[in-house]
Amino acid sequence: MTDRLTIRRPDDWHVHLRDGEMLAAVAGYTARQFARAIVMPNLSPPVTSIAAAVAYRERILAALPAGSDFIPLMTCYLTDHADADEIVRGYREGSFAAVKLYPAHATTNSAHGVTDIFALRGVLEAMQAAGMPLLIHGEITDRDVDIFDREAVFIDRILAPLARDFPALKIVLEHITTADAAEFVRDAGSNIAATITPQHLHLNRNALFDGGLRPHAYCLPVIKRERHRLAVRAAAVSGSPKFFLGTDSAPHAAERKEMDCGCAGIFNAPFALEGYLAVFEEEGALDKFEGFASEYGARFYGLPLNEGTVTLERGGVRVPERLAGLVPFHAGERLAWRTV
Ligand code: NCD
Ligand code: ZN
Repeated sequence: MTDRLTIRRPDDWHVHLRDGEMLAAVAGYTARQFARAIVMPNLSPPVTSIAAAVAYRERILAALPAGSDFIPLMTCYLTDHADADEIVRGYREGSFAAVKLYPAHATTNSAHGVTDIFALRGVLEAMQAAGMPLLIHGEITDRDVDIFDREAVFIDRILAPLARDFPALKIVLEHITTADAAEFVRDAGSNIAATITPQHLHLNRNALFDGGLRPHAYCLPVIKRERHRLAVRAAAVSGSPKFFLGTDSAPHAAERKEMDCGCAGIFNAPFALEGYLAVFEEEGALDKFEGFASEYGARFYGLPLNEGTVTLERGGVRVPERLAGLVPFHAGERLAWRTV
């Protein structure tokens, strides 16, 4: 039995670091485990310009623990009024690593999101030509569609036509939750990849109603039935470079989740690596963990692999009930591995 695992330093290809006091509270958790992270732009107001991204990056760097060499990779929030020149210039000068598509009203702070992605052909063409990735929150927002079907319907109605119309556009389907998404990405060209969160590997939708209503298992896209969890797990441990780590750590104060209309999002940053590793071990795929955590994402983005390593060892860690006023994923549970 393996008791120690040393891998190249990993990256988180999808995280919400927030701003202000929340940023100060959570940044260190991500910076402790990951060398770089794709930072989501769904602030209020959203990050839609080079100037806003540069200023946000400075605030993140200022919030890091002393001596941290963590690199935030900034993203541009796509709106109906997006300017192709600004987006591509931001990419070329290194201010933006990617663009994030939130369908309007799909999730937290998405009111300024896109109402019709096909009206933004000019922007998508410019991004395709520049090799700039489009990161997609893949849920249809039509309220007539059952919430558990919104990802699959998005793939049929939006993503498949988009991929056909822009055959060389780099696309990351974020936080995939269904067998439909895993299959779509697997069968698509090498320009299409996906991130996978720890919660969608660990939980099925029973967790939302386990002895009562469980707000801390609520995130978007919502966790799905067991068949889908198993398909997402199979994709994660498959060794395919199309599937890589993106925590979607999305902190909300406990009282903002434990209310009559609680926020969507799971704060998984503090023990993200330990949580993922548990899954790879259960699947007998420890040898696939380094690719998923530390190689495939960087290659997809065309960035160098990190220098240095992190080591995890068996021995376990107990996840606290609260950290910084937040309820972390796996609160109160024991995880089998710990980061050294
Ligand atoms: C995210 C958030 O809170 O910003 N919430 C979530 O449930 N994942 C937004 C998102 O990624 O959908
Ligand atoms: Zn997210």
